[in-house]
Amino acid sequence: MRRLLSVLLAMLLTCATLVVPGHALTGGEVTYDKYSLTVDGRRIVLQSAEFHYFRLPSPELWPDVFEKFRAAGFNAVSLYFSWAYHSPAPGVYDFTGVRDVDRLLRAARQAGLYVIARPGPYINAETTGGGFPAWLKTVPGRARSSEPGYQAAYREWLHRINPIIARHQVSEGGPVLLYNVENEYQVNTDAAYMQDLQDQARADGIDVPITTNDCCDAGSWSSTWASGPGAVQLPGVDDYPQSFECATPDVWGPWGEGLTEKLRDDIPVFAAEYQAGAIDLGNVGYDKCRELTGPAYMKYFYKNNLIQTGATMFSYYMGYGGTNWGWLAQPNDVYTSYDYGAAITEARQLTPKYDEFKRQGYFLESVAPLAKTDAIASPATSGTAALSTTARANPDTGTQFVLLRHTDRAATGTDGTTLDWAAPDGHYRLPAQVKGRDAHVLVAGYDLGGQRLAASTSELLTHAAIGGRDVAVLYGTAGSPGATVLRYASQPSVKVLEGAVRAAYSGGDLRLDYAHEGLARVLVTGGGRRPLLLLIGTDEEAGRFWRASTPTGPVLVRGTELVRSAAVNGDTVRLSADTVAAEVEVFAPPSVRRLRIGQDTARVAAQERDTSGEEEVRVTPTASGSLTGVTRAPAPVRLPELTGWRAHAEAPEAAPGFDDSRWTVADHTTTNSPHPPRTLPVLYADDYGYHYGNLWYRGHFTATGSETRVDLNAITGLRGDYLVWLNGRYLGSAAGGVQADSGDQATPPNPDPGPGHFDIPAGLLKAGKDNVISVLVANMGHNDDWIADDLRFKQPRGLVAASVGATPIAWKIQGTAGQDKVRGPLSTGGLYGERTGWHLPTYPDKSWKAPTALAPGVTWQRTTFRLDLPKGQDVPIGLRFSGDPSPAYRVLIFLNGWNVGQYGGDIGPQREFSLPAGLLDEHGNNTLALAVTAERPTAGPGPLSLFAYGNLRSTR
Ligand code: GAL
Repeated sequence: MRRLLSVLLAMLLTCATLVVPGHALTGGEVTYDKYSLTVDGRRIVLQSAEFHYFRLPSPELWPDVFEKFRAAGFNAVSLYFSWAYHSPAPGVYDFTGVRDVDRLLRAARQAGLYVIARPGPYINAETTGGGFPAWLKTVPGRARSSEPGYQAAYREWLHRINPIIARHQVSEGGPVLLYNVENEYQVNTDAAYMQDLQDQARADGIDVPITTNDCCDAGSWSSTWASGPGAVQLPGVDDYPQSFECATPDVWGPWGEGLTEKLRDDIPVFAAEYQAGAIDLGNVGYDKCRELTGPAYMKYFYKNNLIQTGATMFSYYMGYGGTNWGWLAQPNDVYTSYDYGAAITEARQLTPKYDEFKRQGYFLESVAPLAKTDAIASPATSGTAALSTTARANPDTGTQFVLLRHTDRAATGTDGTTLDWAAPDGHYRLPAQVKGRDAHVLVAGYDLGGQRLAASTSELLTHAAIGGRDVAVLYGTAGSPGATVLRYASQPSVKVLEGAVRAAYSGGDLRLDYAHEGLARVLVTGGGRRPLLLLIGTDEEAGRFWRASTPTGPVLVRGTELVRSAAVNGDTVRLSADTVAAEVEVFAPPSVRRLRIGQDTARVAAQERDTSGEEEVRVTPTASGSLTGVTRAPAPVRLPELTGWRAHAEAPEAAPGFDDSRWTVADHTTTNSPHPPRTLPVLYADDYGYHYGNLWYRGHFTATGSETRVDLNAITGLRGDYLVWLNGRYLGSAAGGVQADSGDQATPPNPDPGPGHFDIPAGLLKAGKDNVISVLVANMGHNDDWIADDLRFKQPRGLVAASVGATPIAWKIQGTAGQDKVRGPLSTGGLYGERTGWHLPTYPDKSWKAPTALAPGVTWQRTTFRLDLPKGQDVPIGLRFSGDPSPAYRVLIFLNGWNVGQYGGDIGPQREFSLPAGLLDEHGNNTLALAVTAERPTAGPGPLSLFAYGNLRSTR
């Protein structure tokens, strides 16, 4: 009996892990019509945000990001899958550990998010090769075409990734809702290729609608190929109206109005990638990118897109950007951080952009008629021409949605109007006001739970039926006037609990007039309807609300930093929430008397989470029928200082006597590369199987004695360099080349990429004997293939030309040695220290000495530190370089063996590096190893310290 009970209990616990209460996804068939997607017969407005698992190599943190998406009202996540991340060599694929995409898709489902699966094969994404593995550079045949070499390669990838995606589709009870082929495929017109991607997907069991993301304008794929072979079922369009000029965040919409085009009459408008951040092309730091794409931009552009185009499918790029750890960056566009100025920072912190997503996301989630609307005549804005309106209505319910904004989209002033509104329930004249670079979506004729919202010039955040009454949250700009009209069969009783709200009843209309200030509270009872608690706040107040579903109905919460999930059991509401010391308020059914924070019912049941931090909050009931209390402060955190550094110089490869007998002979005279070699032998690193990170070359030559100069060309990608020695003597360094990066096929390739000319000092050459040139080249990663011309992607890396007068040189090359099975192909390069494990925590460095000033070449510095962060708290840790980054050196940063980033004056503006939990042991010993490559004598990087990005009590 006992055994039976424990089996039953175990079954119950397993079930509990499958579904977060109230976040269960609807399964079944995915269809669509001209209005929206439909899942199992239910229309949905798709509100998705992009996430790159390969930029957060800590699977234990994926649920945190997904729960944060869900808590902002997102119902989907868009996932690129990076071919390069999984495949170190042809035929070799790895989906384990940080590359476990089954786990990723389970985590999305667990958080209640649908998935747009985007396996490419080409993904762009500012990642190395645009997602193409570098070995593909050596495969004959134009990439992104149906040429046989490329076709065999991409089919290999698709047949590995597709079956994984297929088993997580909605039809299988999983989260995958859409499947995206290719990426902004616009220059080629290879319909057979586009068709084959779809045929392969179908053959591998993909049954959801297939989409593709078109780029930018009508010349792109889905407009040209709307039908016939290669046409895609449900295409969408990418829009980046704010550009990537983060240095000028006040410039408004330099790339246009940002209205997503409707591509075909039979499909919904799908904003497949809508700008929600930016790459930092100007190296000004991501805070500026967050400003460029901040709440004002989001309010204006996103709401415009919603109402002017009637779009019902949105995917915002990025929701969380992450880190280009290891050699993940496409070096011409990005440095280590891929924070992207997104709503959630690289260190998983929520920003004001997150609040704006939440305000819009809750609205989309709460108001079902938005999924099906047609354009209608819009209300007049009497008294001013500065403002204008656009409107849509749901043809079944009549519910109207009115966009109110400035006529001149760049206007910065505040203007008021009286809206002359022919709403479904009557004709209303209501005051409204809009500040510059803002936009409001106003609702009329809406069955709001048990209420009838006739019209309002406040925006609707959300509404919830809680304990037999409706609780609705309206909001507007602080100080602006607003009015709301509700319909009743008879005069209701109105009690203003807080704030200054005037109520008047006439002919079935209850009209409330007010200014948006703080959080006003109005209780309406009688009038033939169930009670209504109306909360009317400013934008800021609205942003403080959280909505969570429970099996017994929704709850609303104010004042926590986050609510991940909630459950109501008897007299207790339990919140899985992140908190600081603050007043919190919970709107829950009247039976609830107690509030406990810190427990995630589903996961605790599955014993996946630590409950030691659970907190009983002492609460008191309020006149609004809610409970308030004050949450505890998180325990303070003290981080250790980084001391006890030990250093050791390397680069024996520079010494003439170094044994390179086991290095690869570089003697090819031909290459598959479309870029012809300038000198022979071919020295392109990829041709010898060395694809990522630093490279060494050693060239032996018998000197005539009359040589005067070493002439080299190296292509590294932007931010790269190379260092040169002759017979052990350092000759100097040069910047690596980028080669023609114009993207313009008419532009001839740069004849002299990354040149370096090094005079040979008198007396250094040994005439008639073996002389050795040693070259250390930083391969910064591979170009993308954004315009599908193949040439940019296939640009070689490493030395592309080398000569010492006319004297023949015999070359050897060495890159990464072996594969790091845990960290994957993109973590480790070919430095001596990397080849011999100096970056690994286990390496015995006891004999190393205290650091001194650095000579040109490579020096490693290592230290360890111990952490014991408070349990039940989320304290993301970073590493800060306090000095100014100097072009004299570049630093590879290894945390417990993982290459977490690169620092240096030539790399980018970044001085703080995220050390994500998972790679970081939050309760144990950690090893930091820095590989410093100095181009000239230098003191090296300045003092380093650990810091906390935040400190919350958390159920992360
Ligand atoms: C899009 C592309 C994305 C990303 C973005 C800029 O054109 O599809 O992969 O590169 O631009 O961040």
